Amino acid sequence: MKGIILAGGSATRLRPCTKITSKQLLPVYNKPMIYYPLNTLIKAGITDILIIIAPEYAGQFLNLLGSGKEFGIKLTYEVQETTKGLADAFIVGNHFIGDDDVTMILGDNIFEDDLSGEIKNFKSGAKVFAKKVSDPERFGVVRFDENMRANKIIEKPKKWISDYALTGLYVFDKRVVEVAKNVKPSKRGEIEIVDLHNWYLDREELDVAMVDGSWLDAGTFDSLLEAQVLAKEKLQDKMVI
Ligand code: TTP
Repeated sequence: MKGIILAGGSATRLRPCTKITSKQLLPVYNKPMIYYPLNTLIKAGITDILIIIAPEYAGQFLNLLGSGKEFGIKLTYEVQETTKGLADAFIVGNHFIGDDDVTMILGDNIFEDDLSGEIKNFKSGAKVFAKKVSDPERFGVVRFDENMRANKIIEKPKKWISDYALTGLYVFDKRVVEVAKNVKPSKRGEIEIVDLHNWYLDREELDVAMVDGSWLDAGTFDSLLEAQVLAKEKLQDKMVI
């Protein structure tokens, strides 16, 4: 299993702080934000990790994390020239993934739960992580049938389909690279990760795991503040780096 942290993007919602650095390098209590997704991957036993970054801040990531040796891992970096969408991670990461399975986590996603068991027991297909939320229209949303089997995933649904949002943690087998290459950009011009999910869902190869504890994407000032509090109060003794 290899790991990817998608840490590019434009972070317009965190301006002016992100005029001079990347969102994923901003502090979340006592660590740069990217340490949290790194912890999620390292706890799952993943030691070969690709960090995908925007060109402007590539040097800063390298200064902070280097080769990864300090943390007992191997880090590789790729530049995403423009923000083409979440599924672009598998095209940018194409050579890195090779013939392996891959866990991809968004660089601003912070989980309270230890999800390493769910990552380690992945066999094939795709696995996504869902969390019940009060504002599902902001996320990719998964609908379940009466047996709690996922039967539909829609990105930011205008009409309610369920309260279960998909978090920014995904496990795929190596087929994801070819699937991503064949995805056509959406109306907003992005290669949408929901299209990858639906490819696996159509083949009954998509598994959904539930997230019980707190989950935050620290992409707004309010959620960044919440993340700081979560990190201070609940995550300190759970960090491995
Ligand atoms: P978003 O928070 O959706 O986008 P953003 O970070 O550009 O922020 P904003 O909406 O405020 O402009 O992205 C989620 C995560 O995925 C975040 O860690 C950035 C990353 N990302 C990329 O690295 N490349 C991309 O093409 C996209 C769309 C996101």
